[in-house]
Amino acid sequence: MTNTPALARATTAHIERFGAEPTLVTRAPGRVNIIGEHTDYNDGFALPMALPFDIAIAATPTGDRVITAQSEGFDPTTIDLDSPPDPNAGWAAYVHGIAHLLEEAGHRIGGWQGCLASDIPAGASLSSSAALTMAAGLAALGAGGSTIDRIELALLGQRVENEVLGFPSGNLDQLASVSGRRNSASLIDCRSVEVTPVPLPDGVEIVIMDTGTRRELVDSEYAARRADCERAAAQIGVDALRDATMTDLDRLSDEQLRMRARHVIGENQRTLDAAEAMQAGDAATLGALMSASHASLRDDYHVTSPALDAMAELAQTMPGCFGARMTGGGFAGGAVALVDAEATTTFIDAMAASYRPPAAQPAVKPVQFWPVTANAGAEILRFPS
Ligand code: GLA
Repeated sequence: MTNTPALARATTAHIERFGAEPTLVTRAPGRVNIIGEHTDYNDGFALPMALPFDIAIAATPTGDRVITAQSEGFDPTTIDLDSPPDPNAGWAAYVHGIAHLLEEAGHRIGGWQGCLASDIPAGASLSSSAALTMAAGLAALGAGGSTIDRIELALLGQRVENEVLGFPSGNLDQLASVSGRRNSASLIDCRSVEVTPVPLPDGVEIVIMDTGTRRELVDSEYAARRADCERAAAQIGVDALRDATMTDLDRLSDEQLRMRARHVIGENQRTLDAAEAMQAGDAATLGALMSASHASLRDDYHVTSPALDAMAELAQTMPGCFGARMTGGGFAGGAVALVDAEATTTFIDAMAASYRPPAAQPAVKPVQFWPVTANAGAEILRFPS
C-alpha cells in the first residue's frame, strides 16, 4: 500500500476507516522552482513547475462545522470551524487556516471527515505546506458545495502562511500548486498574478536533488532578506525591486543592500530570459541561467548552504547536465538540475556515487534524486452530488 500514489492511499485509508468510498476527493501538487528565487515578494517573476508528487484528501462531508482528519504518520486531528486557527497546531494549522480565511472571504465551506496522504517529501523545498493548504481549501469548499477561482485560492493560501503561521512568504508556492499543467512550467508574474504556461523543451529532464538537510530556525533569515529588499526599494524610491534596474544600485546606502538588490534585479531578468530559452528549446541557455541563479543566491543573497552548494556545484560538472541550482527558500533541502534526457540515468547514478554531505551540514534524511515531469494543478477530483 505504501508504494501507491497518495491519491490511492488516501482513498484506501478512507474506505478502511469509514467503511465507504469517499464522496469528496481533492489533490494538490508540490512544486519545484526552476528559476526566479526570492523574487515573489519583490513583485517579480518566477518559473516553477508542478510536481508529480501530490497531497491527496479523500473525505466525506459531514454537514456540520467540524473537520476530522487523519494523515499517514501523524496524530489524527479535530478542527472546530467556529474557533480561530491555532498557529501551533502543526499541519492542522494549514487545514484550519485556509477554511477560516475562505469563509471570511465569503465562500461557503463545510466540515468533513477524511484521510490525507502525501507524496511530497517535507522540508525538501518542494512546498508540501502550500500543497496541503490548497488541497484542504478545495476540500472545505467541496464540503460546502462551492468552488473558487484558483488564483484567489492561492492568494488566500499565502495569507494562511502570513497571517496564521506568521511567516512572511510570497505567493510563489501556492500559485505554482494551482497553476500546474502537464508538460509545462508556469511563468508567474507575482505582481499581476498572471500565469503563462511555458512548455518544457524536448529532450531534457528536470531532476530534483534532495540534500537530505533540513532547515532549522531560519525563518528569521527569510524575514531579514525580505526586510532588506523593502529597505532597498524604499531607498531607490520604487514600490518594489521589480521596478528597479542595475543602474539604481549606486543609490543604495550599503554593500549588503546592493548585493540583495543585485540578486533580485538580476534574477528577474534571468527568469524572463529562461522562459524565452524554454520557448526556444534552448537547453544550454536555460541551464546556464540556472547555474548563474545559484551563484547569485550564494554570493549576493546568502541563502545557500554548504550542502546546497556542494550538490549544485557537483551537478554542474556532470556530463549531460546543462545547469543546476538550489530551489525554494534555501539554507537546506533540495536543488534542481536540467539534464539531457538521454543522460538522466547516468547523471543520477554518478551523483549518487559522488555526492558526499559536507561535514559542516550533515544530512538528516536520505540523499535522493528524482527525475520529474510537470503535473496538473490542484483540483477537486470528486465533488459530492
Ligand atoms: C519560500 C517561500 C516563497 C518564495 C521562496 C523563494 O518557498 O515560501 O514564497 O519566497 O521561498 O523563492
